[in-house]
Amino acid sequence: MSGAAARPLPIVILGHVDHGKSTFVGRLLFETGSLPEGKLEAIRASSARRGMPFEWAFVLDAMQSERDQGVTIDTTQIRFRTALRPYVVIDAPGHKEFLKNMVTGAARAEAALLVVDAQEGVQEQSRRHGYLLHLLGIREIAVLVNKMDLVDYSAERFGAVAEDFRAYLAELGLEPRAIVPVSAREGDNLLRHSPRMPWYQGPPVVAVLDSFPYAALPVDRPLRMPVQDVYKFDQRRIVAGRIESGRLRVGDRVLFSPSNKTARIKTIEAWHVPEPPSEAVAGQSIGVTLDQPIFVERGEIMSHESDPPLLTNVFKARVFWLGERPLTIGSTYKLKLATSEATVTVEAIEKAIDTAELKPLPPERIERNGAGEIVLRSKRLLALDEFRANPRTGRFVLVEDYVPVGGGIVSMEGYPDQRQLVTVRASNISAVGHAVSRAARAARNGHKGGVLWFTGLSGAGKSTLALALERELFAKGYQVYVLDGDNIRGGLCRDLGFSPEDRAENIRRVGEVAALFADAGFIAISSFISPYRSDRQRAREAAGENFHEIYIKADLAVCEKRDPKGLYKRARKGEIKDFTGISAPYEAPENPELVVPTDELGLEDCLALLLRYVEEHFRL
Ligand code: ADX
Repeated sequence: MSGAAARPLPIVILGHVDHGKSTFVGRLLFETGSLPEGKLEAIRASSARRGMPFEWAFVLDAMQSERDQGVTIDTTQIRFRTALRPYVVIDAPGHKEFLKNMVTGAARAEAALLVVDAQEGVQEQSRRHGYLLHLLGIREIAVLVNKMDLVDYSAERFGAVAEDFRAYLAELGLEPRAIVPVSAREGDNLLRHSPRMPWYQGPPVVAVLDSFPYAALPVDRPLRMPVQDVYKFDQRRIVAGRIESGRLRVGDRVLFSPSNKTARIKTIEAWHVPEPPSEAVAGQSIGVTLDQPIFVERGEIMSHESDPPLLTNVFKARVFWLGERPLTIGSTYKLKLATSEATVTVEAIEKAIDTAELKPLPPERIERNGAGEIVLRSKRLLALDEFRANPRTGRFVLVEDYVPVGGGIVSMEGYPDQRQLVTVRASNISAVGHAVSRAARAARNGHKGGVLWFTGLSGAGKSTLALALERELFAKGYQVYVLDGDNIRGGLCRDLGFSPEDRAENIRRVGEVAALFADAGFIAISSFISPYRSDRQRAREAAGENFHEIYIKADLAVCEKRDPKGLYKRARKGEIKDFTGISAPYEAPENPELVVPTDELGLEDCLALLLRYVEEHFRL
């Protein structure tokens, strides 16, 4: 890239409050010749007038106050350039919104400098900052061990601090490009090697900066354009947004998520260009018009049909917490992801981490400046990506009372993409009405049709109870049939395994079959682990009426002790992956119609409970 056309590399400078970030930036501006003409003299003169010794940090203070008065045009960021290229320091060091901006993604850095005081060594705040970089996926980092003048430029002291920090970063899987001993105040090792530290063989700071590569614009990733707004312009509707990744051409078939609507791109509209472009790529803010008048709104993500974002109402997240009040299970927050907003509830805290010591804490709450792994659930389907697949649509902010209280990244580990379950591919179909009514069938049978949906862990007793209940009900004259996991998986669902998506599809099919049985006048007893709440909800919706969710309840410990098929033992040994309760989630029902506690009652009592329930709810 030629020097003139180079894009500024956005960097952040992190570190403990007193470890000299401002001094460093002031001196760096000077060393690289980036200060405006006469600036330094003006600051020196004004310090002298006030009888204060000059400090490099005043450079930043001066810029800050000009900024506050609106004097400089460039208001928010500090820029400098080396012989190689320009840089922009996003967010001033010491700014009180700094952490928040980092966490909420207001600041998007491609590289980071971590400043540590040589005398004080690595402090809590430096560690937390390191954790944040790790969480946000910023991997281009360098450490500056500052104030070397105060430790007599001691190689030993430098070595100790450097090793301490290197070890911490290694635990996070981060490896700094360099660890540089500097004195920001004296200008040592900033632009060139300092004669006062001949023992240091590595590059000075500016050389390290120049070695950071630009992050590639994510042009080659799948297309993602979060919809910012839809404008009516003449007769046209223009869908506007910024392409966060991928590329788009006129004529492409696009999909909007979560509404799951498709259309073709008729035109791409761009501002300040003589002719409408035929293509647009990541980083551009554009508008598009569509070939069909579909209803699209802010918050949706536009993608290609072939490579869409995930659809889900539950996901795992790694979060960094800033809220005054700790994050707790059951709390509700507003989630902001790209341009969408949704209400989410913390369903579980799986891990809480002390970000300074990297030690696990009891997973009951996540305190300010802490981090953790949580499960979030929303009422409606959300369109998103896993952070590792697409950082732009895989990170989010949590807001409480209009204040950002945390930021995080998405992982779908253990949870299915629900897109297949809500996508309808068939077209040109029209359902026919049956000539025999539900009521007529019920009248002949003497009971209503319906679904008894057994859910619970493997080994909880679902199959045993389902088969016993079937036998008893049949003897009493009921039309009844058991759909059982192990049986159905040998036929209708034999193409499915135990991945989250396959389980969801398993339950979708069984839900539909159970609904057909119910419609035919039968009592369908379905006996499946059915670990996901949203799948059971869909089964309920398929059945329409007379759906009864029955929680066959036994603690994991009890099921594991029973282990009727020896599967838990094998799962513990790692021989079966994604095993429910061990290495895959089970979401217990929130409001089941009936709970059958098989770890408290004997088989006969459980059966009696079920029989009574059926007699009450199904007899005419
Ligand atoms: S579900 O999760 O998709 O609802 P389903 O009820 O059909 O599961 O099948 C569960 C049965 O499959 C268990 O009773 C067990 O015998 C067997 N099985 C095999 N692998 C697994 C696994 N990884 N997790 C749970 N059950 C498994």
